[in-house]
Amino acid sequence: MNQESIRIGLIGVGGVCAMVHYPGLRIIPGVDIVGLCDANPTLLAQRGEEWEVGAQYGDVERMLNEVKPDAVVVATPNCEHLPIVLAALEAGCHVLCEKPLGLDVGETVAMYRAAERLGRRHMTAFTYRFVPGMRYLASLVREGALGEIYHARLQRLQDWPDHSLGWRQYRAMAGSGQLADMALHRIDLAHDLLGPITSVCGSMRNLIGRDRTKDGEACAPQDVDDWVAFLAEFESGVTGVFESGRLSKGRGPAGDHDVCELNGSEASAAYQLHTPDQILFARRGEAFEMRDVPEAFLKSSGSPRALGDGNPEVTFRYDQAFEFVSAIREERACRPSFKEGVQAQAVCDAVIESSEGRRWVDVVDPLG
Ligand SMILES: NC(=O)c1ccc[n+]([C@@H]2O[C@H](COP(=O)([O-])OP(=O)(O)OC[C@H]3O[C@@H](n4cnc5c(N)ncnc54)[C@H](O)[C@@H]3O)[C@@H](O)[C@H]2O)c1
Repeated sequence: MNQESIRIGLIGVGGVCAMVHYPGLRIIPGVDIVGLCDANPTLLAQRGEEWEVGAQYGDVERMLNEVKPDAVVVATPNCEHLPIVLAALEAGCHVLCEKPLGLDVGETVAMYRAAERLGRRHMTAFTYRFVPGMRYLASLVREGALGEIYHARLQRLQDWPDHSLGWRQYRAMAGSGQLADMALHRIDLAHDLLGPITSVCGSMRNLIGRDRTKDGEACAPQDVDDWVAFLAEFESGVTGVFESGRLSKGRGPAGDHDVCELNGSEASAAYQLHTPDQILFARRGEAFEMRDVPEAFLKSSGSPRALGDGNPEVTFRYDQAFEFVSAIREERACRPSFKEGVQAQAVCDAVIESSEGRRWVDVVDPLG
């Protein structure tokens, strides 16, 4: 394995950074976490102590100027991605940015164009591409094991509390609710499996006000969707049905429902997040049966994580950091890059337009 030393700064050290980015980067030989940046000084100090990183900053520009990292991970609220990503690219950094890349497609295009112009590696954190079952499903599609695909069915249903969700419940900070938070991942998975979505017809609902914090204090009410569903037409002729909701009692936290099912002329197959190392598979006339994911798909080739260590619903996510670092070392494009972040965002924006206008909307390729 190429172990060229890479110095990485973490910007936004909240939930996903602690769960995914830090543990994923920490196990890669030759990677040093050289600086932390967060707007919350208490959290910053806590992470600095836990992760033994002394270089702690409340200001992105200062960290970039003083630490001069080779690369950064941006895991702040969505509204902060654009200025931070542009500053990091200008400072010479390769960038792994959380999804959604931006609040709308215009922001994502600006990031993609800047990264390309400056010749930096760029990656969108579409984490679910790294689920073993999803990798195996993609290989079955590519080798034609399902035949001609007719239908795709992608669902992410969760049981979230009714109180305030912080920045996630405001359009100005999040872009949209369940659409940008959860359905966007599924749009990217569908693009990867089946090619571009060309037209959508969607519906979005803001079902509960969320005007109280967890402690019962009043707060500004939510202005984004708790639930979204849309029909999709793909360039290939496949039809898709997507649904994502936060208010599905019985669907979490223990029973999170995350399914991508494909129905083809020869067979059907489905990935489910709660069985990440297995898929469902059935030919005509058969009931679905569990199939183990073959070893070759259990982790990225060369990934330093040990199979069997930790919770398999979490540890596959560490391969995302390995992909970012590998792309830098191998001087190739990240998979998925900002380009895939732009393409998924274009669908997201079309779903919003469709829901608001109560009609089908064609997806315009913003890079076309
Ligand atoms: N890929 C995935 O599976 C996945 C999972 C969870 C979250 N996310 C994404 O990750 C991002 C962060 O989500 P989270 O759940 O970790 O949120 P979070 O609120 O837990 O953490 C965000 C952190 O960013 C800090 N911050 C805010 N503004 C900042 C700024 N200008 N500079 C530096 N730090 C700043 C906050 O203080 C906070 O600690 C979001 O874009 C979210 O959509 C992706």
